[in-house]
Amino acid sequence: MAGIKKNFPGVIALAHASFDLKAGEVHALVGENGAGKSTLIKILTGVQKQDGGTIELYGSPISFDSPQEAQRGQLATIYQEFTLIPALSVRANLFLGREKSRSGFLDSKGESAQAGIILARLGLHIDVETPVAELTIAQQQLVEIARALASDAKVLVMDEPTAALTPTEVKALFVVLRELAEQGIGMIFISHRLNEIFEIADRITVLRDGTTIATRATSEFTRQQLIELMVGRSIEDEYPRAMTKPQATGLEVRNLGAGIVRDVSFTAHRGEIVGIAGLMGAGRTEVVRLIFGADNRESGAVLLDGKNVMIGSPREAIANGICLLTEDRKTQGLILRAAARDNFALPNLTTWSRLGFINKAKELSRFQKHVVNLKIRISDPEQLAENLSGGNQQKLLVARWLETNSQVVIFDEPTRGIDVGAKFEMYLLIGELALQGKVVIVVSSELPELLGICDRILVMRRGQLAGEITDVRSAKQEDVMALAV
Ligand SMILES: Nc1ncnc2c1ncn2[C@@H]1O[C@H](COP(=O)(O)OP(=O)(O)OP(=O)(O)O)[C@@H](O)[C@H]1O
Ligand SMILES: [Mg+2]
Repeated sequence: MAGIKKNFPGVIALAHASFDLKAGEVHALVGENGAGKSTLIKILTGVQKQDGGTIELYGSPISFDSPQEAQRGQLATIYQEFTLIPALSVRANLFLGREKSRSGFLDSKGESAQAGIILARLGLHIDVETPVAELTIAQQQLVEIARALASDAKVLVMDEPTAALTPTEVKALFVVLRELAEQGIGMIFISHRLNEIFEIADRITVLRDGTTIATRATSEFTRQQLIELMVGRSIEDEYPRAMTKPQATGLEVRNLGAGIVRDVSFTAHRGEIVGIAGLMGAGRTEVVRLIFGADNRESGAVLLDGKNVMIGSPREAIANGICLLTEDRKTQGLILRAAARDNFALPNLTTWSRLGFINKAKELSRFQKHVVNLKIRISDPEQLAENLSGGNQQKLLVARWLETNSQVVIFDEPTRGIDVGAKFEMYLLIGELALQGKVVIVVSSELPELLGICDRILVMRRGQLAGEITDVRSAKQEDVMALAV
């Protein structure tokens, strides 16, 4: 891809982007949120048309008009947004558009067998007839990957394929990617997780503000240099620790139980950042959803500043000053077809309305304040949420919750899909909330992040609290893992 340009109304998504891929290599594409990574991929795979520049595949110019055409051209893609059809089975999704047939009939047996093999390679042991809607987010992500593998592509494009995966699942995926590389398949790998990039990539291309600024072998970058090239400044300490001073108990959870969660009790102080660690499926998200009233609890009580609060729904949680930033922004947070500004305003309307009238001017000025503080990259407050880059969608949700002025702020995987610079800003912000005397709870799968910013870490295992790390400053990742497994 040479000299690719792409404009959207009010935004130059790509100014001069170039990218080349060799057969049999894993080539990472990195850059800040909104740098243009997904747009470049969408142009390559026929989702969008470039305004300038050329694309060649094996030396011949190509220009796909649709993803289906790209797939016939042996280019398979895993997009940042899920594209599976929830009501269909895993098997049907895997072979959608290229169903196997035998003498004119759908060969579902043949499909099942092949599907089973591909899924097993990824370490996913599920019934291939399960509807996709019943799978967890991680399982759905693996099915997306499996679908690309099923298509015998020569080029495999992956836009943040690991964002929803556990370390074990990432390992399994990387083994498969290495095998594919040996078979001569070229892979484009987009991720905000630098550890993964250094582990899997043969080469790295850095995109900044829609322009390619470097392409080198992975061994020619240090972590610091890569960060600097991406964000245009140096970040000395990736995990800034706030000078928190935990005060009185703010939140107390007693004997919480429902579903897999059993007998979870803990306290969190005002001014304290409490981390919750654990493997995928350990019940971390379930616990915070119970506190937030998003699911019904079977037992237990939630106390705020020593007072029992009745929370039966998120609405009641918000009214009591508890907010939750969900891990899955696509299905639980954003209304993609609505303007960014309306997404921001959603739970906050009462704050700005007087006698039933919404104070639009106030809403807008609050929104713009967050856009500046969080460095949300947006061309216009009316821009649809779906047209924001993945990381900027995440920031939009954060802005929304900051505005509710809650006393208990719960983050579930707050840095998923956001770039190193924005992660840094997010940590500062989490610290700032604690310094304001709020209770801050952070659920995360990124152990360095929890160890770097929390005052205390609770570790969950199979729906229960397995232990607690109080001496976070001297704790190691292994200490947390030992409790988690
Ligand atoms: N359909 C669209 N309409 C308007 N603007 C768009 C559209 N698609 C992308 N943009 C804008 O183009 C820029 C590049 O977006 P893109 O999604 O390519 O970024 P990205 O590098 O993938 O970021 P992230 O890491 O957050 O996923 C952003 O400013 C985004 O808001
Ligand atoms: Mg993207």
